[in-house]
Amino acid sequence: MSLSISIFGLGYVGSVSAACFASMGHKVIGVDVSRSKVEMLESGRTPIIEARMPELVAEANKSSRLHATCDAVGAVLNSHLSFVCVGTPSLKNGKLDLSHIETVAHEIGAAIRQKKASHLFVLRSTVLPGTTENVVLPILEQESGKKAGRDFAVCFHPEFMREGSAVADFLNPPYTILGASDTSHLAPLRELYKSVRAPLYEVTIPVAEMVKYFSNCYHALKVGFANEMGTMCKHLGVDADQVTKIFTTDTKLNISPAYLSPGFAFGGSCLPKDLRAITYKAKELDLKLPVLESLMPSNVEHIARAVDMVMSSGKKRIAQLGLSFKAGTDDLRESPQVQLIKRLMGEGLEVRVWDEDVSLGRLAGANRQYIEEVIPHIGSVLTDDLADVMRSAEVVILGNKSASRERLASLLTPRQIVIDLIHLDHAKRPEGANTYEGICW
Ligand SMILES: NC(=O)c1ccc[n+]([C@@H]2O[C@H](COP(=O)([O-])OP(=O)(O)OC[C@H]3O[C@@H](n4cnc5c(N)ncnc54)[C@H](O)[C@@H]3O)[C@@H](O)[C@H]2O)c1
Repeated sequence: MSLSISIFGLGYVGSVSAACFASMGHKVIGVDVSRSKVEMLESGRTPIIEARMPELVAEANKSSRLHATCDAVGAVLNSHLSFVCVGTPSLKNGKLDLSHIETVAHEIGAAIRQKKASHLFVLRSTVLPGTTENVVLPILEQESGKKAGRDFAVCFHPEFMREGSAVADFLNPPYTILGASDTSHLAPLRELYKSVRAPLYEVTIPVAEMVKYFSNCYHALKVGFANEMGTMCKHLGVDADQVTKIFTTDTKLNISPAYLSPGFAFGGSCLPKDLRAITYKAKELDLKLPVLESLMPSNVEHIARAVDMVMSSGKKRIAQLGLSFKAGTDDLRESPQVQLIKRLMGEGLEVRVWDEDVSLGRLAGANRQYIEEVIPHIGSVLTDDLADVMRSAEVVILGNKSASRERLASLLTPRQIVIDLIHLDHAKRPEGANTYEGICW
């Protein structure tokens, strides 16, 4: 089925989308405030420099499937759906400038008022979560005098193309993400992407909005990380190419979902020590590596976040389940759980601690010595009786995965508050407490 699509904003995203949809057999009307861009597309010339665009635009023009105009109302009246791809630049202070989106929402809303058939508004510009539903949708309702979800529909559909390979990325995306408050609104988009071979996710609008920021911030982090590590390699006389090539072949831990689940602070015997060694070495070499240097402060901040969560509950009696930095080890070196407990005790809270793998009765050697000599105050509240620790607690902190779901569920009571630092899967979360909250999810 061929659809009629109006595309607002004929910049990189809009003009590539227009050319690609036309090449897929749909009728496209491009809309822009720039007369020169409109004239170029209307005469079969690409308004941007991008591989394959000259051929695609010329072909679309020849087949009469692609037109361009400055007339927003006419474009809406003559299309089933509108893709909005106008710019969302930064204001001087860094805040996102939504003015172009707001202007287009006013125009499309006014056109929807005149339109008898239903219309689908699809926002593609990158916007922060909440923008589509709290900024754009009210403008559309106000201008159209109609109700979203009943008389017209609104979706958010992020774009992942990269300039330079935009057409290839558009036709072969990593995935297609469709955000809607009701999946029935997505029917025309499903039809549109029928021939695109990529996983398709149907999600809520804020999830779709956030995936774009999660992705771009991660890409920026990757670039900064690779540049800083490369700089370090160069100054240490190490072949950065070889290191990077080897690093990226590890798809178990390095290029993988490992360490990418929001959870608690890192710790243990390696990560903090190795980060410190590298950043110290950088100082000796007079190198500034702000990404790497920011990781320890970020970790400390995350522990502070856990303290704030407990303090804001207003409760005094705390059960901390998990003392070592992860289940299955009794290694307490640089455990963020230990830092958390120290901070909570310092705030005057009554903390009791249980950890299957760390119990003074079973511990020997360095870890026993560590508890007795370095953190004796934690040693004195450490017990191997989980039921006893849970009985008196108002807040139960899941600090590592050592307690089983069943065991916890049999001990939790409705009035207790569970704070999950470890991001248990839904299926593994113990029931029993009325309040269950994750630290960063
Ligand atoms: N450029 C990319 O590679 C890329 C990739 C993914 C997502 N995005 C996001 O997509 C959005 C668009 O990016 P872009 O790079 O294509 O922007 P762009 O600046 O190249 O193009 C925006 C276009 O919108 C037009 N416009 C402004 N106001 C208008 C109005 N009232 N009516 C019609 N047209 C209007 C402008 O004239 C311009 O041609 C941004 O939110 C961006 O963050 C961009």
